[in-house]
Amino acid sequence: MTPEEQRAALATALTDAGSLPAEWAPAFNSVPRHAFLPDTIWTDEGDEDPECSRSEEPERWMRLAYSDLPIITQWDDGADDGTRSTPTSSASMPTVVAEMLSDLDAEPGHRVLEIGTGTGYNAALLAHRLGAEMVSTVEVDAQVSARARTALRGAGYAPEVVCGDGSLGWGVRAPYDRIMSTVSLRDIPAAWLAQTRPGGVIVSPVSPLFGGGAIVRLTVDGEGAASGRFTRSSAFMVLRQQRYEGEPVEDYLPGDWPGDSEQSWTKLDPEAAIGDDWPAQFACALTLPDVYYRRNGFGEDGWTWWLFDTAVTSWATVDSVPGESRFEVRQSGPRNLWDEVEAAWRWWDDQGRPGFDRFGLTAGREGHTAWLDSPENPVPRQG
Ligand SMILES: C[S@@+](CC[C@H](N)C(=O)[O-])C[C@H]1O[C@@H](n2cnc3c(N)ncnc32)[C@H](O)[C@@H]1O
Repeated sequence: MTPEEQRAALATALTDAGSLPAEWAPAFNSVPRHAFLPDTIWTDEGDEDPECSRSEEPERWMRLAYSDLPIITQWDDGADDGTRSTPTSSASMPTVVAEMLSDLDAEPGHRVLEIGTGTGYNAALLAHRLGAEMVSTVEVDAQVSARARTALRGAGYAPEVVCGDGSLGWGVRAPYDRIMSTVSLRDIPAAWLAQTRPGGVIVSPVSPLFGGGAIVRLTVDGEGAASGRFTRSSAFMVLRQQRYEGEPVEDYLPGDWPGDSEQSWTKLDPEAAIGDDWPAQFACALTLPDVYYRRNGFGEDGWTWWLFDTAVTSWATVDSVPGESRFEVRQSGPRNLWDEVEAAWRWWDDQGRPGFDRFGLTAGREGHTAWLDSPENPVPRQG
């Protein structure tokens, strides 16, 4: 198949899956995704080597460009030391791009700000449908930004490409009808609220510390706030300035475990109840915005769950051992972090285990409130 045929096949597959709205199909059929990718890319194709070089494997490279896969284009902010520990720029999965554009509900005549230019592919899609003069895109990484600008020009699109911190928005062309972020944040920045016109829409991935990221679609009111529902789960890269690895365990527990902790027991297995359940993690995250966890495997197939607060006052461990009916808990500090997580999980369970789309967010100058089903029903916050 020629690249054009592969592009058309991808667009058809996205349409058939219900991900690509008809009004965005011409852009997907026209914008050459491969023209935005560097010669060396990385993607998870199961058994295949994730790295693919265009010069060595031209056919595979082109097939990957038009596969419904996220493609990593930069590691470790461009540090070329061979370690490749954290992916830091990518072309997002086409399904996700299409569904976020569907959430964005942009129309010709709308002025749009994209945060996270990355390869420039999404900016090209926006420029194709809305006109390049209506599109601005902000990228924090100078090399990534320069590459995207060149790729955009090469493909015949000239949106405004800005190198800077997208969490500050881009006031020069405000107000925007739409802001679309393709990098995730913990909270919606005040600058985006201020730079979106009343009635305008912000679509962004939100990735709370505890896990279970999701896309939120907010409508901005005329008074500096915005409100709306989460639409779907997501796993986007985190805003460069908000990456959080956690604090060293020694800062919480200077000596050997179990330190001064108190022992108790729980019947809730964190691994089974929360470990692989994204909505459960998300509910805990909304309830406990300042708590995070780490898991350590031990022995055959058990896990120790470590819980920490960002203020570095408290920690807890829970041992998840398959086949057991109760699990040992250790808690230390002014907060009983496992009790808080268990209460958050039980609240979520009592609500009928809601998925992402029953949750919503109101973002304003005074902070953010997550809610269930309606803004009148805030998610109970702990901590
Ligand atoms: C998933 S990629 C974006 C994909 C892109 N929209 C595309 O079509 O290829 C996320 C991008 O966000 C960028 N980024 C991270 N922090 C940022 C920030 N504070 N401001 C702007 N961009 C940021 C990263 O460098 C990365 O290029």
